Amino acid sequence: MSAKCPDECPRKFVVGGNWKMNGSKKQIDEIISFLKAGPLDSNTEVVVGVPAVYLEYVRNNLPANIGVAGQNCYKEEKGAFTGEVSPLMLKDINVDWVILGHSERRQIFKETDDLIADKVAFALEKGLKVIACVGETLEQRESGKTEEVVFAQTQAIASKLKDWTNVVIAYEPVWAIGTGKTATPQQAQDVHKALREYIAKNIGADIAKSIRIQYGGSVTGANCVELAAMPDIDGFLVGGASLKPEFVNIVNARQ
Ligand code: PGA
Repeated sequence: MSAKCPDECPRKFVVGGNWKMNGSKKQIDEIISFLKAGPLDSNTEVVVGVPAVYLEYVRNNLPANIGVAGQNCYKEEKGAFTGEVSPLMLKDINVDWVILGHSERRQIFKETDDLIADKVAFALEKGLKVIACVGETLEQRESGKTEEVVFAQTQAIASKLKDWTNVVIAYEPVWAIGTGKTATPQQAQDVHKALREYIAKNIGADIAKSIRIQYGGSVTGANCVELAAMPDIDGFLVGGASLKPEFVNIVNARQ
């Protein structure tokens, strides 16, 4: 635990980089260099979400203390699912994590709560750790439905899971993703706290205490310290800024 975040803060800070469909070998080599140079706070767990074709390359070239995540995987081991990636394939190349339920998967690829829940359950069963994303659209926020939406997305996953040990939840308000409009620390904290209370009441008190909830949506080197100071924000899922050296500052945001 960080010296400034002693015993009362038992959840290890976890920062994910979500590279999305970005990068080339050349750009990835640059990212690997700044990640290696760090220095990265050893009290923070770091995971990078890499396009499928580069996963093995990145896994083989990053130090073992930095986790590597697929950005998606299917709910079957193998078979006639053209274009999909199996959790077993991720495991086979020593990738230990997968990001599931990202709002881009939900919105652009029409993934439903139910499919995402199946994928989360299956990935966990096959031994992956999962970053499961939830979050409301601007329209849902403006009509006062933020909590309802986030709770329902979480509940859909809960209905198919017994063990949450290897799950990190990423709360990513859709209106804040890639828009430069970050949720204020208080807005993010309010949803994180409400979600933790929902989990305590409906899923399990111990799970609520231990589960890490990341915030995602336009996190940058400039706003990460303030966000990281909120008691229910246990890390970040970072898109655009994870491609840049400022990602190191975001990893080190918890003071
Ligand atoms: P952003 O993306 O940091 O570019 O807003 C976050 C995400 O989609 O995970």
